[in-house]
Amino acid sequence: MSQEKIEKNVALLIVCILLAVIWGGLVEITPLFFQTSTTTAVKGLEPYDAERLAGREVYIREGCYNCHSQMIRPLRAETERYGHYSVAGEFVYDHPFQWGSKRTGPDLHRVGGRYSNEWHLAHLDNPRGVVPESNMPSYFWLAKTKALDTVGRDIEAKMGALRLLGAPYTDQQISEAKEALKDKTEADVLVAYLQGLGRTLSNF
Ligand code: HEC
Repeated sequence: MSQEKIEKNVALLIVCILLAVIWGGLVEITPLFFQTSTTTAVKGLEPYDAERLAGREVYIREGCYNCHSQMIRPLRAETERYGHYSVAGEFVYDHPFQWGSKRTGPDLHRVGGRYSNEWHLAHLDNPRGVVPESNMPSYFWLAKTKALDTVGRDIEAKMGALRLLGAPYTDQQISEAKEALKDKTEADVLVAYLQGLGRTLSNF
């Protein structure tokens, strides 16, 4: 088939472009499903315990991902500000990922351990109380709602579903999940989630 024939026939050109794009995509994407570095958990990574899993539900429900990414790119400006760049093996128990794409606020992937629990609780209650120039909304109601009344109500079923997807929960962890959430507020479990973020690679 001559080059001229393809260039003069729009339909043929479209088909050829589509084939090229599909082939290029497959060549890039397919190996990722079989590569150890993208499918295996990094050393020391644990699935979310009941508290952090419930906190993650609050994070998703409140749409924190609309302003915060959890994906540090391997660029110097990012690694100096946030810490080690994110690697795929840190997210194998995340269904779905909270990578996000919008950064109105800072990336949160390595926020775990950066502040105290008290700081987070004060910040969620009134961001401007701790960071005067902040434009993050206040989430004051989280401290007034018990996690077991909302995000924790079906925690055992959620852990069971994640186990089907590969998270290595034991029966005991699942049966003790509700007990772990007893008396915790939504703010408590959200802070537990934030404090656990991105810590597995901290000794890297
Ligand atoms: C409208 C955008 C917006 C939303 C929605 C939002 N944030 Fe923020 N967030 C910000 C901005 C801006 C900052 C930086 C100023 C500050 O620290 O308050 C920030 C800072 C933070 C920090 C401190 C990060 C650091 O490294 O200093 C945490 C933790 C945080 N947000 C958590 C959350 C959580 C959890 C939610 C959802 C309940 C949330 N944010 C929702 C905009 C947002």
